[in-house]
Amino acid sequence: MYKFFMPTRVYYGKNALIDNVGELKLGSRAFIVTGKNSGRASGALFDVENALGLLKIPYEIYDRISNNPTIEECVEGARVAREFGTDFIIGIGGGSPLDAAKAIAVYTANEPVENSDFEMMDIYNGVYKNRPLPMAAIPTTAGTGSEVTPYSVLTLHSEKSKRTFSSPDTFYKVAFVDGKYLLALPLQTLRNTVVDAISHLIEGYTNKRSNPITDCIALEGLKIIGDNISALLEDKLEEEQAQSLIYASTLAGIVIAQTGTTTVHSMGYPLTYFKNIPHGMANGLILGEYLEETEKVIHEKVENVLSAMKLKSITEFKEMLKALLPHSFTFKAEETDEWAITTSKAKNTLVSPFEVTLEKEREMFKKALL
Ligand SMILES: [Fe+2]
Repeated sequence: MYKFFMPTRVYYGKNALIDNVGELKLGSRAFIVTGKNSGRASGALFDVENALGLLKIPYEIYDRISNNPTIEECVEGARVAREFGTDFIIGIGGGSPLDAAKAIAVYTANEPVENSDFEMMDIYNGVYKNRPLPMAAIPTTAGTGSEVTPYSVLTLHSEKSKRTFSSPDTFYKVAFVDGKYLLALPLQTLRNTVVDAISHLIEGYTNKRSNPITDCIALEGLKIIGDNISALLEDKLEEEQAQSLIYASTLAGIVIAQTGTTTVHSMGYPLTYFKNIPHGMANGLILGEYLEETEKVIHEKVENVLSAMKLKSITEFKEMLKALLPHSFTFKAEETDEWAITTSKAKNTLVSPFEVTLEKEREMFKKALL
């Protein structure tokens, strides 16, 4: 038995929003959630303002979402949204604003009790009375896939990590996926986000919860990325390739919306929390070792991953990641050993293709980072 559930209406391609303006009308007062730069630099915010102007919908722009947003930031965003009297949310940007918009949609419809940690945490148990406000997404990176997943990954200082919440109500109602927005991204940001998409595709494909539909989508996504990776490595990205990469990223989101992620993501979170390593890069630093471990238990699937990306070996895969992710971060065994205590207990270790133990995580961290 397997199921597939993806309720988001997706408009994909050049001018996806401008050509489908009416689809943005999810209410009568819009609250736009974006980062300090991502909305404006990409041109997506300009397109959304134009669309809302045509629809004569009043709106407020909330551009205070930071990288790796916290629950507290989302609670504050929701307070502003309530004050404005919004009845729908528009998320614009990469994973941080798109994930934050989901939490803001929940907290706008369900006012948390001031200074109550318990109330804030309830979002993780799906304990809230009212349904979140309807949401529209405009991704401006090729990595998150958040536009087609129910997941919101937020930083929790109390746990010194990130934690994910989701419910069937936190899917976006509609997403406008247009690769032209990628062209304004700094090259390394784009590379990091594409590595996140590769990670989603591989973690989804090798996941214990994978099924024939997700396998098919994951291999298609990997093939598309494999066809376009040289443009990214050589910094020769044109709009056509950008459209392909954002398409692959959305496919990757559709896959993990069904399967979830694996230990790669949970191992990546401390790298982001403690070292401020961007999310996609953090996954990319772990992904080669993950593939080595996975190869021992599901050899054929790893072969399929490599051939979809036109790579001959895991070594070649690791070299590709190294070229995509130049960095100067350093790590100590004491810190990675410490991180493994938490990451080996994460929920998504259970759907990883191999058995995840504390020793295994410590060994993987060492091989990948030291
Ligand atoms: Fe991710």
